[in-house]
Amino acid sequence: MNGTPLTILAIESSCDETAAAVVRNGRRVLSNAIYSQIKVHEEYGGVVPEIASRKHIEQINQVIRAALAEAGCTLDDIDAIAVTYGPGLVGPLLVGVSEAKAIAYAKKKPLVGVHHIKGHICANYIEHADLKPPYLCLVVSGGHTHLVHVRDYTDYEVLARTRDDAAGEAFDKVARAIGLGYPGGVQIDRLASQGDATAFELPKAHVDEAPLDFSFSGIKSAVLNELNAAKMADRVIDKADLSASFQKAVVDVLVEHTMDALDMMDVSGGIRTITLAGGVAANSGLRMAMQKACDDRGLCFCMPSPVYCTDNAAMIGVAGYYEYLAGVRHGWDLNAVPNLILE
Ligand code: KG4
Ligand code: ZN
Repeated sequence: MNGTPLTILAIESSCDETAAAVVRNGRRVLSNAIYSQIKVHEEYGGVVPEIASRKHIEQINQVIRAALAEAGCTLDDIDAIAVTYGPGLVGPLLVGVSEAKAIAYAKKKPLVGVHHIKGHICANYIEHADLKPPYLCLVVSGGHTHLVHVRDYTDYEVLARTRDDAAGEAFDKVARAIGLGYPGGVQIDRLASQGDATAFELPKAHVDEAPLDFSFSGIKSAVLNELNAAKMADRVIDKADLSASFQKAVVDVLVEHTMDALDMMDVSGGIRTITLAGGVAANSGLRMAMQKACDDRGLCFCMPSPVYCTDNAAMIGVAGYYEYLAGVRHGWDLNAVPNLILE
């Protein structure tokens, strides 16, 4: 990297957060503005894509203005525009992509489309100045559960993925069944801290032909069965115990597979660093359990602060920086790609 600073305006609108950030040289977050739509979607028990798109359109200019103001800069100080173009909900993604294109076109700035999951992974660089590839990252979000070998800043190899529900999806579905509302992950996390994690025995799924892959639908169904059985017997179920048992079952599998992946990876010298990424990385049980597993094995462990685990634009600014350095530039034909895969 030469001595000239590179300042990126990043935009994220793949789901229900309208976010903009200004990031300098990939590691320094000058601002991180987020408008959360949680209140809007709460009454529906989940994200309503069309309402999310409309909210993004309403909010995006204010959010960008707030990010620029907080960073103390104007669009003239920005060197490139980074934007999430997938995966995510098509309507919400189109709002961010169109906005980014309009700014890039009007101000004659380079445009860099960013993969949302790469953004989550790159969130780790914000607060860990020494972190550099290669390392292993457990990505656990609302839509994805991946074990990723981060070979270099823009070079990723997916080692394992979920066969059915993503971890966050399982948290949200179980929370809804228990009657905790939306978004469920954070509510289960809170309730679990008051419960007994050994109260219910829940199954841990194993995929024979791909032992690193995940499957959470069995754990989720077992929780639903416990709830149904209690209802049929007119028995009151302890929600805190059920939350704690569910969270432990999910966390145990996530940590076990991460450690197994580390053991199975045939990398010269071995990987000695593990990171967490995505909304479920904000889970206190997962954070503690992964920290302990890494400490026990003498591994280096990094995780973003909770605000950089859930959706934000700072992470897109970081990923966009490394893509920019690698020469990635998108044209005016950049489109939303709802099912963009990680490769
Ligand atoms: O990464 P994210 O903000 O959005 C996606 O890219 O999907 O992840 C959202 C997911 C939701 O399923 C939410 O319930 C979950 O992250 N989540 C949590 C916690 N905070 C957010 N799950 C468990 N514990 C938490 N503390
Ligand atoms: Zn996300």
